[in-house]
Amino acid sequence: MKLLAIESSCDETSAAVMVDGVLKSNIISTQLIHTEWGGVVPELASRAHQKSIIPVVTEALQKANINKNELNAIAFTRGPGLLGALLIGTSFAKSLALSLNIPLIEVNHMQAHVLAHFIEDPKPTFPFLCLTVSGGHTQLVWVKSALDMEVIGETQDDAVGEAFDKTAKLIGLPYPGGPLIDKLAKEGNPNRFPFSLGEMPGLNFSFSGIKTAILYFLQKEVKNNPNFIEENKADICASVQKSLIDMLLRKTKKAMKEMNCTQIAIAGGVSANSGLRARLQEMGTELGWEVFIPAFSYCTDNAGMIAMAGHFKAEAGEFCGQEVSPLARYSL
Ligand code: KG4
Ligand code: ZN
Repeated sequence: MKLLAIESSCDETSAAVMVDGVLKSNIISTQLIHTEWGGVVPELASRAHQKSIIPVVTEALQKANINKNELNAIAFTRGPGLLGALLIGTSFAKSLALSLNIPLIEVNHMQAHVLAHFIEDPKPTFPFLCLTVSGGHTQLVWVKSALDMEVIGETQDDAVGEAFDKTAKLIGLPYPGGPLIDKLAKEGNPNRFPFSLGEMPGLNFSFSGIKTAILYFLQKEVKNNPNFIEENKADICASVQKSLIDMLLRKTKKAMKEMNCTQIAIAGGVSANSGLRARLQEMGTELGWEVFIPAFSYCTDNAGMIAMAGHFKAEAGEFCGQEVSPLARYSL
């Protein structure tokens, strides 16, 4: 099975080739245009996808040493994501599949983030718990099988990636701020500014309160000292990052106990965070969990994970027709 996969849900244009479940190429073009706007501008994302999709697909095929006529199916991200951005990938996948007379496989982006764990060893065994943390989602997913997943807890407002990015914006860092906070946090004191907040009942999360708390805290401090942010940047980053990780891990621990589970995986852009990776490893050692952390290239948006999900769907005979349309909202 020679599979081409396409990802275009947000600000990464990506294409991958997978042969019989083995990833042969995974090309990612990150749209830099959004940096100057402090966040992803949907219309600019669509235009950038339009520009990049053919070169990215061409490069993915070349790197895998595959001719397009050899392809057996095309997998693409159907949603969730920005509708205009999804439309580019979907239309491209549909046209190419039509011209090659091969079937399509529609993929749920959030399911694919979880399935990124099956690209390389070590792989978890079913069932396991996955904490999926990205710019748009924060979910605790009970993974019963590759194609059967249940969200057992999720954010009721902002995603944790948004909390990272919005904090970064408040302290003058460009978009996307998550990786920059991670970097600065390494030199800061995580206990300097505690942001303790109440939490949602059960396994759900809320990140809008902490965002406001950080805003008010900074406004107050800057009134007393206009250079406060500049002088304390590393400590602010370390403290915010610690608070966000605490919130994620408290619920993860609770979910692991409730599900009587010993395997925990993390997925999504925020799983690239070095603090989260280290703290989860520590927690795993302490509580006897097996911890699965994907390679950095499979954390943030990439078509390799779409190919992996496409592979599982192809194995299950789950193909779709030309009538399929993208979905901005698409639950697991
Ligand atoms: O999964 P992803 O690439 O796109 C979405 O589906 O949203 O995730 C992007 C998010 C952004 O909010 C970005 O700031 C965050 O992941 N992120 C990080 C790190 N790397 C990416 N957040 C914290 N620490 C990082 N190292
Ligand atoms: Zn994503």
